[in-house]
Amino acid sequence: MAEKIKILIVDDNESTREGTQRLLEYEDNIEIVGFAENGLEAISRVEEYQPHVVLMDINMPVMNGIEATQRLQQEAPRTKVIVVSVQDDAHYLKQAFRAGAVDFVAKPITSAELAQAIERAYNSIQAEPTPPSMPAPSQAWPGVQYPAPSAPEGHIVGVLGFKGGVGKTTLAVNIGVGLVQAGKKAVVVDTNLYFGDVGVFLNTHGQHTIIDLAHMASDPEQLEPQAVQSVLISHESGVKLLAAPKSPRESEPISAESVVNLLEYLKREFDYVIVDTSTTLDEVLDASIQVSERLVVVTTPTMPALKDTKILLSLLDVDATEKDKVILVLNQVDKSSRITADQIANYLKRPVAAQIPTDPSAVEAVNQGMALVTLDQRRVSSIRPLLSVVQLVRDAFEKESEEAAEQEAPRKRWW
Ligand SMILES: Nc1ncnc2c1ncn2[C@@H]1O[C@H](COP(=O)(O)OP(=O)(O)OP(=O)(O)O)[C@@H](O)[C@H]1O
Ligand SMILES: [Mg+2]
Repeated sequence: MAEKIKILIVDDNESTREGTQRLLEYEDNIEIVGFAENGLEAISRVEEYQPHVVLMDINMPVMNGIEATQRLQQEAPRTKVIVVSVQDDAHYLKQAFRAGAVDFVAKPITSAELAQAIERAYNSIQAEPTPPSMPAPSQAWPGVQYPAPSAPEGHIVGVLGFKGGVGKTTLAVNIGVGLVQAGKKAVVVDTNLYFGDVGVFLNTHGQHTIIDLAHMASDPEQLEPQAVQSVLISHESGVKLLAAPKSPRESEPISAESVVNLLEYLKREFDYVIVDTSTTLDEVLDASIQVSERLVVVTTPTMPALKDTKILLSLLDVDATEKDKVILVLNQVDKSSRITADQIANYLKRPVAAQIPTDPSAVEAVNQGMALVTLDQRRVSSIRPLLSVVQLVRDAFEKESEEAAEQEAPRKRWW
C-alpha cells in the first residue's frame, strides 16, 4: 500500500485542532500523527514524529506560526508547512511564504480543498532534491532582484482567478489563439505546475515541459534559442505552447527567478506571452503577476467566486497609476445568473470588461482540442465576447505603444 501522508496539526485552540482532524478523517491517504499547541512545541513534535506536512496556525502563545515555520525550514527542511489562517490573517500571507511555507490556506476550507493542499505539499517533497543551481524558495523569496525588461519586445499577460474552474485556461487558450488569428506571434505558458491542462485543452503534448526550461532559466545566459524551440509545442492554430507536466509526479518547484527569466526571454521572441496560472499562492504565481503588464482576472457571477475575486483584487493592490492593469472578465454568465454585471462592478469596485456566456461549445472545444475562437461564429455564442477580450489586450499595447514602451513601471510585490 502507498505511504500515508503524515500530518501534524498545530493550533493553540483545542476545538480547532479537533475540527481540522475531523475535516481529514475520511481521507484514506492521510494520517494525523500528532498535535502541538504552539510553535515551539511544534518544532519538537516534528523531530519526534517526522511528519510530511504541518498544518500551522499563526497566532499562538510562546511561539507564533510564522516563526515556527521559519525555524522548521532550517531544522527540518523535508517537512512542509501549510499555514492555515482565518480570513483576517490574509496580511500574513507574505510572511508565511517568506518563512518558507509551501501553501497558505484560509478558513473556512472544505475537506477536499485541505486534502488537495496537503497532497500538493507532499508531492513537492517527492519532487526534491532541488538541483543545486536552484536556490530553495525561502532563500529565493525575499531578496529576488528581477531583471528590467529590455525593448523592443512583446508583452506578458497573466490570466488569474482565485477559484478553481472559473475559466482561466479557457481564457488563456482563446486569447492566445485569438491573437494568432490577428496575425500576432503568441505563446501560452502553463504555470500550473501540478495540475496544468493547457496541453489537454489544445490536445497537444510534447516530450518536454516548462520544468526542463526552468532548470535552464535559473541562469538566463543558459537559455539557448534552440533548446527553447524544441521545448515549445506547436498547435495547429499556430499558437505555441509551453506545457506543464502531465502528472504532478513529474513536476517540481520552480524558483521565482527562473519564471521571470523564462517569461522575459519569451517576451523577446513573441508578440504576446499569455500566462495561465494556478490558484496556489506561491512564488511562481507571484513572479508571473509581477512580470505581467496586464492581468486578465477571471471570475464567475457566483458569490463564492466573487468573494475570492475581491480578496484577489485587494491582494493585487494595483495602485492608482496601474489601475488599467486589471481586465476583469465575467465568465459563465447565463440567464439564471441572479447577480448582474453592474452589481458585480459595484462589489468589486472595478468595471466588468467582458462577459462570456455559459456555452456548451466550451466543453466540446476541449474535447476536440480546439480553441473556441476557431469554431463557427454563427453557432458559438462565446466567440464574440472572447474576441472582445483579445481586442482589449491588443488595445492595451498596440494603441499607445510608443509612450508606454518608454515608461518602465516600478516593480513591486503584488500584495
Ligand atoms: N463560458 C463557459 N461556458 C461553459 N463551460 C465553460 C466556460 N468556460 C469554461 N468552461 C468549462 O469549465 C471548466 C473549467 O474551465 P477552465 O479549466 O478553463 O477553468 P480554470 O479556471 O482554468 O480551472 P483550474 O482552476 O482547474 O485551472 C472546463 O471544462 C471548461 O471547458
Ligand atoms: Mg486551468
